[in-house]
Amino acid sequence: MRAEIKTAKSAGFCFGVDRAVKLVYQALDEGKRVATLGPIVHNESVVGDLNAKGARIVSDPAELAPGETLIIRAHGVPQAVYQQLSEQGNPVIDATCPFVARIHKIVMEQTAAGRHVFIAGDPKHPEVQGIVGHCRGNCTVFRDADELKCLIDRSLPERLAIVAQTTYNKLLWGECIKLLPSDHPDLQVFDTVCSATAARQSDADLLSRASDLMIIAGGRHSSNTVKLYDVCSRNCPSWLIETAEELQQHADEIRQKAAEIAAKAGSGHILKIGITAGASTPAHIIKEVQTNMSGIFDTDTTIPENEDFAAAFEEELDKTFPKKIRKGDRVKGIVASIGGNNEVMVDVGAKQTGYITLSELTSDASKKPSDLVKVGDELELVVIQVNDAEGTVQLSKRRVDEMIGFDNILKAYEAGEVLEGTVISVVKGGLVADSNGVHVFIPASQSGLGRGADLNVLLKQPIRFVIIDTNEQRRRAVGSIRQVQKAERDAAKAKFWETAKVGDVYTGEVKSLTSYGAFVDLGGIDGMVHVSELSWARIHQPSDVVEVGDTLEVYIKALNPETGRISLGHRRPEDNPWVKFTNEYQVGDVVDATVVSVTSFGAFARITDGIDGLIHISQLSNERVSNVKDVVNVGDVVTVKITAIDSEKKRISLSMRAATDDGAAEDEEAEADEVVYSDEAPAEDAAE
Ligand code: F3S
Repeated sequence: MRAEIKTAKSAGFCFGVDRAVKLVYQALDEGKRVATLGPIVHNESVVGDLNAKGARIVSDPAELAPGETLIIRAHGVPQAVYQQLSEQGNPVIDATCPFVARIHKIVMEQTAAGRHVFIAGDPKHPEVQGIVGHCRGNCTVFRDADELKCLIDRSLPERLAIVAQTTYNKLLWGECIKLLPSDHPDLQVFDTVCSATAARQSDADLLSRASDLMIIAGGRHSSNTVKLYDVCSRNCPSWLIETAEELQQHADEIRQKAAEIAAKAGSGHILKIGITAGASTPAHIIKEVQTNMSGIFDTDTTIPENEDFAAAFEEELDKTFPKKIRKGDRVKGIVASIGGNNEVMVDVGAKQTGYITLSELTSDASKKPSDLVKVGDELELVVIQVNDAEGTVQLSKRRVDEMIGFDNILKAYEAGEVLEGTVISVVKGGLVADSNGVHVFIPASQSGLGRGADLNVLLKQPIRFVIIDTNEQRRRAVGSIRQVQKAERDAAKAKFWETAKVGDVYTGEVKSLTSYGAFVDLGGIDGMVHVSELSWARIHQPSDVVEVGDTLEVYIKALNPETGRISLGHRRPEDNPWVKFTNEYQVGDVVDATVVSVTSFGAFARITDGIDGLIHISQLSNERVSNVKDVVNVGDVVTVKITAIDSEKKRISLSMRAATDDGAAEDEEAEADEVVYSDEAPAEDAAE
């Protein structure tokens, strides 16, 4: 029997599967511990080979060992899986086919815009489950035109988008689209059937129409292989086989069918045999099938290479993603996921998968990607490397931030604008601050700290500064905190002198102390509280009652705009202890007082805070006292009678004798003697 064997041009691995399989082999070659989330391809021989080389299969990221690299296969995964991997911290190699990733992007955008998404496909297929996992719970999956019709009859959502699984049958997709009402007010249709699938199906359809019998090589679990079998078996007797050995098992059956066909066709008929293969069938299996078929029919066959298909596929890919990416291009990208290896995957609308490493995301090593970006964010990026072999493009956000940041620095320099930043390091001679992603040098003399001060106090602190010099070529800028502080002080002073008046109350920090007073910051300008104004009690120096850094409530006692002197008060009349005392006590009251000092003529005893009275030696006891310390000592609490109050001299006389029954008779003879309360203080000096 004469036979002619033809192989479909588009048989075998598609771009997406080919890329995914290569990425696994590459990761293994690099010595990585690798697992794939499900079999990387529906082909046992490929999976078996990868397994033998060390790539294990997991069904859930939770099964990964720490540090084990997970390879996401071409089908893609739901958004939640990226989240899980990010939390686990496992490195990820994302081999999601760019066509599938495009569907993820579409459904994310559509659901974000408030549209419900219809997905044509098999709800149990991992690709469809991955798409569903990007729809924010706002989608419905239908298998075929009948199921779509049921949905239409039930009433369609007011805002609707429709996509298809990449391997969905092109003819069925056409039938479904025809069913959709043309008057729907808001319907977006996205034809997402992969052209590789369509090309393979159409090639298989054409070849099977022109053939007497067809062999379809591929996995029985591969949906696109099964679809090829469906297409071919409609046109001629077809066999689906997984391996070349399996073909041998069907050899007799195939010969018999061929003989029947040849007999029907009559003598001289040349039997036409077609071969095609699913997207997950490696080239070596196709070659083995071709060779075995030649053996079965004892005929030669030329084995076409798939180079034409590869070129055609590239063309299709370019049509789907017309955007061309070159090194150095500035592009916009949408964050698609954040990987556990601190890489951010970005959709730049091109056929390549974009990614940003952490060092190209930020110059701040303390940050994680999740601190800086979230899924769906649009980023300004620059292309730093294109790898067509891997289908990846490396991007940098940090470099764009620096470019934009330096432009802003130049504008701020011209406008004299105050910038904000954070001190990121202390270097020889000054500080380095990060502002808008640009590093600005601040000399120590411009740090706003005193000469010789420890610059480390500003490390990691937010600062405000102005640019005082730039070098555009080298992208260098020099800043000054000191100038900002001076300008702010000048502005505060001007405002103070415009509005301040005697009696105004301020709460300020004590900036410095002298022997005669305390200088208080009133908000950019200092005033002085004289030592006599600090306390009603007798004090020797300001440090007896306040320290630098204390907060003090003060009021303006006097202002002199010409000399710039501001005199402040702190004591309040209502707190005057003498007034409080005379309001509460009177002559004749018996009180407990604490001896605070002892002299040769008597003892001073404290009645209330700041108010002391004298117990004359003659009033210590009914007995004659020759030495005061024989009766009282500092710290003793004694019961005394107030025998006299001299409001003019602010003196109080006390008597222990008069406080006792025995001494009471002699009370009236007791004379008011010395001293006691005093608020005298040195003359005031006004603040400088
Ligand atoms: Fe991608 Fe199409 Fe293959 S979607 S995985 S190139 S079938």
